[in-house]
Amino acid sequence: MKNLLGQTPLDSKDFPQSDQLLSTIFEYMGKMSTETDISKMLLLLADLGTKLVQADRCTVWLRETATQTVWTVAGHGVERISISETSGIVGESLQSGILISVEDAYLDERFNIEVDRETGYRTRSMLCIPFTNQEGKIIGAFQAINKIGDSQFTRKDETLLTFASTYAGKSLDAFILQNELLETQKEIIETMGEIGESRSQETGNHVRRVAKYSYKLALLAGIPESRALLLRYASPMHDIGKVATPDSILLKPGKLTTEEFEHMKLHTVVGYNIFRNSERELLKTAAIIAYQHHERWDGQGYPRGIKEEQIHIFGRITAVADVFDALGSDRVYKNAWPLEKIVSYLEEQRGKQFDPTLIDLFLNHLDEFVTIRDSYTDRA
Ligand code: C2E
Ligand code: SIN
Ligand code: SIN
Ligand code: FE
Ligand code: FE
Repeated sequence: MKNLLGQTPLDSKDFPQSDQLLSTIFEYMGKMSTETDISKMLLLLADLGTKLVQADRCTVWLRETATQTVWTVAGHGVERISISETSGIVGESLQSGILISVEDAYLDERFNIEVDRETGYRTRSMLCIPFTNQEGKIIGAFQAINKIGDSQFTRKDETLLTFASTYAGKSLDAFILQNELLETQKEIIETMGEIGESRSQETGNHVRRVAKYSYKLALLAGIPESRALLLRYASPMHDIGKVATPDSILLKPGKLTTEEFEHMKLHTVVGYNIFRNSERELLKTAAIIAYQHHERWDGQGYPRGIKEEQIHIFGRITAVADVFDALGSDRVYKNAWPLEKIVSYLEEQRGKQFDPTLIDLFLNHLDEFVTIRDSYTDRA
């Protein structure tokens, strides 16, 4: 063992002179520099590790502070594996910040045999090195298992894996931050959407479904993926303006009076005003959707009564998605409609309430929308 965080200086004679190794390193750095998916990044780093130290396999573990676990992916398309951040040799290395090299894991009392039990693998030699972020906080560990040829990991392997580990820390740190920001954004958006809906006793699943339908319909309409994603993340906020609607209206079990409905209509303008001054693409999109989701193709909608292509494509898409979902759901003021009745309504409103092209696309792919609906039901 040696203290990694104490920065034991690497001895230059330990560095391999082999062109082969250098070209491997450059090859992987090239691949990783364009990688945007964190799971794939972990697999690339693991591949690099196995090549550098000639291990049977390498695993890159990443810490998840909230759950006090470390996670990794076992292979392409394979689900995440999580273990406690204090368990096993990996855990010991994470807690202590030191490099650990063992000859036979089964003879080491720290070893957690669970992972082997699950995978049917026999771990023998193991090299485990923690890595840190810019602030020096340990964010994960690089683990090499079973030196090829049944021998032991050498001092040179330690040096090489330390290098890979340092590189992993630097590149994953940026990833985690980026990921964190994106996840936070998405969470805030969903939560905001739910605030609008929850007071009218609609579940969070309503906003999730509307998001999915909108995204799907956008792709069917030929909108590029990046724009469709923007719609998906913004559409949950279409009814955010309902926060300003009094309960007496929102929760009224029966039909609204004309006056009450006039008040209700304001939720579009309120939503628009919440987001309209933002510079952020996502919130600008949310502003458009909040403002336009009750406009109608024939110009009879609200708040402005704009028509046809004057209505942004995102507004037209969300209108279909929102009504499809509202009709299929129980509301305080109505029961859910059966699917046939919803379909005939959409057909009847083709070119009146809704963009005819979108209705054609929607009805031609009806089963896919129903599948989405059934995967996010309101009742257990
Ligand atoms: P919501 O419940 O989310 O409904 C969204 C849209 O789905 C409605 O927009 C309407 O286009 C369609 N929709 C929902 N239920 C029905 C229905 O039974 N028949 C038909 N033809 N369409 C339906 P709309 O009408 O502009 O309403 C906006 C929001 O105003 C509704 O959102 C709901 O929160 C509220 N609201 C509308 N009508 C009533 C009502 O009679 N009573 C109460 N308490 N609230 C209502
Ligand atoms: C351990 O670190 O003790 C077990 C984890 C593993 O084998 O991957
Ligand atoms: C489109 O109509 O293809 C895209 C519209 C938009 O992204 O605003
Ligand atoms: Fe609405
Ligand atoms: Fe809605």
